[in-house]
Amino acid sequence: DAAEKAGFETFMLKEIHEQPTAIHDTMADRLHEDGSVDMAELALDDAALARIGKIQIVACGTSYHAGLVGRHLIEEWSGVPVHVEVASEYRYRTCLAGPGDLVIGITQSGETADTLAAMRVARQRGAHVVALTNIMGSQATRDADGVMYTRAGLEIGVAATKTHVAQVVALALLSLKLGRLKWHLTPEGARELASEIAALPGIVSTYLDSDAANDVADVARSYSRRPFFLYLGRHVGVPVCFEGALKLKEISYIPTEAYPAGEMKHGPIALLDEGSPVVCVATDSHVFDKVVSNIQEVKARGAQVIAVATEGNSEIEEHADAVLW
Ligand code: F6R
Repeated sequence: DAAEKAGFETFMLKEIHEQPTAIHDTMADRLHEDGSVDMAELALDDAALARIGKIQIVACGTSYHAGLVGRHLIEEWSGVPVHVEVASEYRYRTCLAGPGDLVIGITQSGETADTLAAMRVARQRGAHVVALTNIMGSQATRDADGVMYTRAGLEIGVAATKTHVAQVVALALLSLKLGRLKWHLTPEGARELASEIAALPGIVSTYLDSDAANDVADVARSYSRRPFFLYLGRHVGVPVCFEGALKLKEISYIPTEAYPAGEMKHGPIALLDEGSPVVCVATDSHVFDKVVSNIQEVKARGAQVIAVATEGNSEIEEHADAVLW
């Protein structure tokens, strides 16, 4: 079935529509209503996990961006410090991981040479190395002490989509587990997060079937001839922008930059002209007002803002030229 497009124009579009199933299958039988998480394949029992001092994540491309999202979840929910690095840099730096540390190599295919090499370096230093991968029996699973499988099904499109969201979900489960083991989350807090994670497949599926998904196509069409795009976000919106910009470059060949919005005034603002499209992740969060002030700065330069915002937030419509709900 994976080798057929099932009526979709491209494998990428088909795989985008397979995201609800990928998310559901990745959490199925691991996540429980009370906020507990089963992850025996990590090969670390609860006592050892509770003693983890720090976590390092190594990966490339889209998998690296999943790691950056994961850092927010792990640090916020469990208080464990996380360092995330592109594997091609990590492997040539002094490795400071050691016994008592957890190193996670994220690789959808399980075969990316730089990620495998970075995992090997960390393992030689005595860290417990886990492969987060979509492919059973891949090299990463053979080189690691433990595994965490995403269950996204085969991804044929070159641009990673459903495997990326499945990686984020797997990292959310790990964060929840660590949060409970470290007593960083209250039992009620863990239960609440579990129910929010469990709701994700339904939310994504409703979105993909809604008019909002068609509106994205209209916005894409109207901006498709612009020569340059800038993506801006804050907090977890930063890796979301990195990933969005990577996809835009890869799929449309349009030069694109992505920056933490607060960095814009330190240089990248010079790139903006009258009418330059700037995609701003402005979903409801504690940094919403900060993002709105960045939007005002780029508007003052004559740029056009495409905001990615939470449905029902009417304030954003006053500031943006287009909104992707
Ligand atoms: C971009 C993309 C690549 C991969 C990268 C790592 O859409 O798919 O950036 O994410 O080549 O691949 P894996 O995850 O297989 O190690």
